[in-house]
Amino acid sequence: MRLARRWIIGSTCLILVGLLHFVYWDLVEVFDIEQSESSAPIELLWWTRHMPWVYDEVRRCGVFECRVTNKRKRLASARAVLFYGTFLETGDFPLPRSLQHSWALLHEESPKNVAYAPFDDFLQHFNFTSTFSRYSDLPLTTQWLPSAHDLISMDYTMSFDFKSSNLNVASPSVVFLNSDCDTMSGREHYMKELMRHINVDSFGSCLHNKDLPASLQKDYMDNLYSPKLLRFLSRYKFMIAIENAVCEDYITEKFWRPLVVGVIPIYFGSPSIRDWQPQKKSAILVKDFPNAAALGRYLMDLSENKTEYDSFRGHKLNRSHPIQNEKLLHNLITYPYHMGVPTPEGSLIQVFECAVCKYATYRGPIRRANARHYNCPLVPIYAPLESKKEPNSLAHWRSAMKVGQCQARILKTFFSSNKPYSEAQFAAELNPRIAEDRC
Ligand SMILES: *[C@@H]1O[C@H](CO)[C@@H](O)[C@H](O)[C@H]1NC(C)=O
Ligand SMILES: *[C@@H]1O[C@H](CO)[C@@H](O)[C@H](O)[C@H]1NC(C)=O
Ligand SMILES: *[C@@H]1O[C@H](CO)[C@@H](O)[C@H](O)[C@H]1NC(C)=O
Repeated sequence: MRLARRWIIGSTCLILVGLLHFVYWDLVEVFDIEQSESSAPIELLWWTRHMPWVYDEVRRCGVFECRVTNKRKRLASARAVLFYGTFLETGDFPLPRSLQHSWALLHEESPKNVAYAPFDDFLQHFNFTSTFSRYSDLPLTTQWLPSAHDLISMDYTMSFDFKSSNLNVASPSVVFLNSDCDTMSGREHYMKELMRHINVDSFGSCLHNKDLPASLQKDYMDNLYSPKLLRFLSRYKFMIAIENAVCEDYITEKFWRPLVVGVIPIYFGSPSIRDWQPQKKSAILVKDFPNAAALGRYLMDLSENKTEYDSFRGHKLNRSHPIQNEKLLHNLITYPYHMGVPTPEGSLIQVFECAVCKYATYRGPIRRANARHYNCPLVPIYAPLESKKEPNSLAHWRSAMKVGQCQARILKTFFSSNKPYSEAQFAAELNPRIAEDRC
């Protein structure tokens, strides 16, 4: 009995102490916020060099206000430090890191760019992320779709009969327009096989067999949705839409652009792409076919069947219910960033800054990113080849990812020791591991 009573008193005291502690820290937190509100705005510091802008200004984001700068000497007063993924440098992080420094990462590219980005050892050091993954704090999954209106608009949509009348050789009418010819997804290897079975018009530099009209040649890479280009593409029945790497939710204009112009995408990339189609069936998925020969046969049949062909174009042809995917609809209405908003406030950078500004103002409970925030497989996935062999560039990408894993581990060690280090010190850790195959 006495023991039990003592235990009860003891644990009550413990709970009380815990509560007081909690309240105390809450008050400190509130006080902290109020103090910074009453004086200068909270500061966000872009750590990344080589950004195409220089500024130091107060940014108003709705009811929030932050000072956004890229002057490194302001590190001590910064509440959040911002990094742009593609320009990260392994030897350039702001250490020692104080407790008040939240780190925020904006990285919309695939792991082709930064091989250590997918690893937990790296991501766990960030408190706020914006990537293509639906699990990041500011997801960019639909960033390459200009708007819901473009998806359902009939502006560029050609009828099946018109598309058929354009053909002067036996062909399912497929367009391929890519100029990155060495991809983690094995795009060119797969296309080489497909092009042995069916006619494909290839206008980019990969497997090039046709020239774009002169008026399009200059800016087709910079102006992905120019009206001229959209009109040109809309004549086709199918468009190759193979991403340069396979990651969950890594979806680019390759998927959205054909949908915008009423052309059926032949897609390979995000394994969960079905979550983002406007209707249950809006794209042909490469992974549904054992190989390119089977896909080629299917395209030949489909290209001659109007009813079946148009059943992929419900987002254009069903005027009463064009977007039947609730998740996509919700996303299109609520997400703060889609390309195609021409004002500075609509730019990706400013949308990101405002999201971090809001986060840094409230902060709330401790949070850190994990591998889901940049949801990529650690071994590259590629389109299935007839030969059943892997693409010959795959060995290269696999070892690049292994080096990435090594880099992530070393970064973790440096970040944990929380002391400044140089690129040379980083290399001194990395190189022997690569040489001895200890990644
Ligand atoms: C065309 O596709 C429809 C299904 O959408 C099918 O019922 C029909 O038999 C097909 N026609 C031909 C000629 O294969
Ligand atoms: C459009 O979609 C709705 C909902 O799925 C369906 O009931 C209707 O029959 C479709 N209309 C046409 C013309 O396909
Ligand atoms: C931010 O992330 C770091 C590293 O994971 C962590 O130690 C820190 O507690 C986090 N801060 C907040 C406010 O979530």
